[in-house]
Amino acid sequence: MSHYLADDAATIKFGNKLATYIHPGITIHLLGNLGSGKTTLTRGILRGLGYPHAVKSPTYNLVEIYKISELYFYHFDFYRFNDYLEWEEAGFREYFNSDSICVVEWPEKAGDLLQKPDLRCVFSVLDAGRKIEIQACTGTGKQCLAHWKTTSR
Ligand SMILES: Nc1ncnc2c1ncn2[C@@H]1O[C@H](COP(=O)(O)OP(=O)(O)OP(=O)(O)O)[C@@H](O)[C@H]1O
Ligand SMILES: [Mg+2]
Repeated sequence: MSHYLADDAATIKFGNKLATYIHPGITIHLLGNLGSGKTTLTRGILRGLGYPHAVKSPTYNLVEIYKISELYFYHFDFYRFNDYLEWEEAGFREYFNSDSICVVEWPEKAGDLLQKPDLRCVFSVLDAGRKIEIQACTGTGKQCLAHWKTTSR
């Protein structure tokens, strides 16, 4: 699935929409260059899930944690990730569970410490906007995209 996002607002709106099709237990990887829209999309997802407050980039803390009623939402950014000990010590592995939604910017920096995501979004800068391509990597991911396609006709 590929979409053109003309501006910041379009990225937020797309995140809002994506929020409708995800549920606890899902992991989403966001790939793309610096400034390509990964945090903006996450902001849109969080809005869509009903989180009204500011959403900041987790670049310095590696993770920002949101609790939205019973749901735990973990927003990771591994750009500054140093080594796997950091990962083990922080207990990040436990964050990826059936009660949480995990969104990961720069997953490639964590190498093979991460399990396969359900959805993989790849951003690229295109003209004044962005292109986003979403791929399903698991059966769960495929169900999300199939649901999206059938309801958006
Ligand atoms: N579709 C779009 N068209 C144009 N600009 C956009 C679009 N989506 C987001 N932006 C803008 O791009 C800039 C960078 O966005 P953002 O912080 O989301 O990138 P990022 O991929 O998370 O970067 P980083 O890798 O540094 O974390 C912001 O100013 C944002 O408003
Ligand atoms: Mg970011």
